[in-house]
Amino acid sequence: MEINRNTIIKDLIESHPETLAVFRKYNLVIAGGVRGPNEPIAFFAKAHEVDYDTLVKELNEAIEKGGGERIEIPKLEEDKIYEKFVKTAIILTLTVGVAFGAIILSYIAIKLDFNSIYYALIQAHGHAQIFGWVGLCIMGFALYIIPRVKNTELKNRNLVNVCYWFIIAGITLRIILQPLPVRAIRLLLPVSAIFEIISICLFTFIILQTILSSKEKVGIFDKFFKAGIVWFLVSTFINFGMMWYLYKHAIYEIPKNVFSPFVHLYLFGFVFMFIFGVNIRTVFAFLDIKPVREKAVNLTFWIMNISVPVYFISHMLADSNVVALRLSQFIVFPIAFAIIVFIYGLRIFERSTRELHDVVMDRSYAKTIRTAYIWLIVTIIILLVMPFLGHGSELQRRFHGSLNHAVTVGFITMMIIGYASKMIPTFKGIDMHSVKLSNMTFILLNIGCFFRVFSQILVGINEKPLFYAVMGTSGWIELTALSIFGYNLWKTMNTTQETKSPVTQKITVVTKDTKVFDIVDQYPETLQVFLDFGFSQMANPVMRNTMGRVASIEMATKMHNVDMDKFLKALNDKIVSKK
Ligand code: HEM
Repeated sequence: MEINRNTIIKDLIESHPETLAVFRKYNLVIAGGVRGPNEPIAFFAKAHEVDYDTLVKELNEAIEKGGGERIEIPKLEEDKIYEKFVKTAIILTLTVGVAFGAIILSYIAIKLDFNSIYYALIQAHGHAQIFGWVGLCIMGFALYIIPRVKNTELKNRNLVNVCYWFIIAGITLRIILQPLPVRAIRLLLPVSAIFEIISICLFTFIILQTILSSKEKVGIFDKFFKAGIVWFLVSTFINFGMMWYLYKHAIYEIPKNVFSPFVHLYLFGFVFMFIFGVNIRTVFAFLDIKPVREKAVNLTFWIMNISVPVYFISHMLADSNVVALRLSQFIVFPIAFAIIVFIYGLRIFERSTRELHDVVMDRSYAKTIRTAYIWLIVTIIILLVMPFLGHGSELQRRFHGSLNHAVTVGFITMMIIGYASKMIPTFKGIDMHSVKLSNMTFILLNIGCFFRVFSQILVGINEKPLFYAVMGTSGWIELTALSIFGYNLWKTMNTTQETKSPVTQKITVVTKDTKVFDIVDQYPETLQVFLDFGFSQMANPVMRNTMGRVASIEMATKMHNVDMDKFLKALNDKIVSKK
């Protein structure tokens, strides 16, 4: 099999099992399910920082040495450690998360009053979203990604289930009990927080043991993961303190001056550190840009981790202490600066290196990752305006709600969607169920988020019913977007390679009736022939997977005015050269 930059790793492993040893040597077959990664070699080489030419040379040597006789194919396992975390996160966000949020928002819009809502319900929604949706997604991905970027095994895998059930029990108890005015069972509120503490301590133990067991050189992303874990632990203990306070004082709402800065400590501390860590390790390959500017992202690391606790404490004390108030107004500037430096360091809006311009692969996730950073810039702008709006004023509260939404939906949720759409198909060695649905999610979520963030600001400036109406619809648009995403990702997670590729007749000679898809599926190296003859749309895996399944050579050559006999000869020559 002739290896070129678009050769799909799983196809090469299938026809030349002897290449598996080379891929293993470069830590390359760590994902991709039972048949191996469904990725072009050139992309994988960049993503794993392996020199492409060296890799291809060694693969060809292995094939030469393989010398024809068939050898045993070592069993590749599909690791589904992330699946139940991600599936539960989808269920939670589509029910008590976004659906509940959309209902609350419509109620506020009908009442034309943000204070018309029982705030304990909003806090229950908030907890379901930050621990349920975001927390579970990060835990699931971290359990899969961290052992692989650290080239080691996940330690204490047997504890993962315990970790999962404790966090689910904790979140469920919390979101049901906090708004529920039943005194007799209020002791279960601090109990719910204890369950979450046990789970997050187990998660910390598993991840730190795994990182410490690695012999890989320490990467710049390592400390972001470790800092993220520290803030996850700190958040869960603060959460216990808040639950104990509710129980002790027999009240239902956590004081706003504690809950709101707590949400930001969780987001800027735990969530940002994990997202930044994964971005540093992967974005350069995903977006085909240069590796990060290490000095810049290092600076971000220190400024963020010093500023976050100052932000939390100063905002908590701002109502009662003028020094704390001034500090809470000042601290947003270093945080904004740190995030801008990170965006510069990550090169997220810089031109592509075009190193992978000739590589054929689905890149629909790229716009989602970049758009997430546009929403992060919107978040920073709102953050910088807020100190100039009267402390605790209704206007400042509206801006605060918009900031929350820009960061939780615009940046974090968009990032989760971008990465899940790239990573989960990679984990499984298949394509995303539907790129069309991914694009629908992208468009609808941006429309919904735009409506929410800017109409809520306008409501703060002028309480016009029109602005309330636009805001009230935004939640339903976002619910539709996330439901489409949930369905699309769930279908992808439920697809296995076996189910993905029904066995078709082995092609020995390509004829005018042969389906385009079958040729490329059975002989991936023929893709180059199609491209050479001008069938550029064959570069798009979706086109191959859809049109390619119905179009025969005769139809394709007719449609594109290509000399069929000449094309058939080129294809058959390629197939014969493989044998
Ligand atoms: C996508 C659809 C969503 C809708 C319709 C929605 C709706 C709402 C509403 C109406 C409020 C109260 C008003 C306000 O404070 O602005 C709220 C607050 C909140 N939401 Fe959401 N939300 C959504 C997504 C999210 C996500 C993805 C997260 C977190 C990852 C989240 C976390 C929160 C938090 C923590 C609060 C309370 C903030 C505070 O009081 O400081 N929401 N949400």
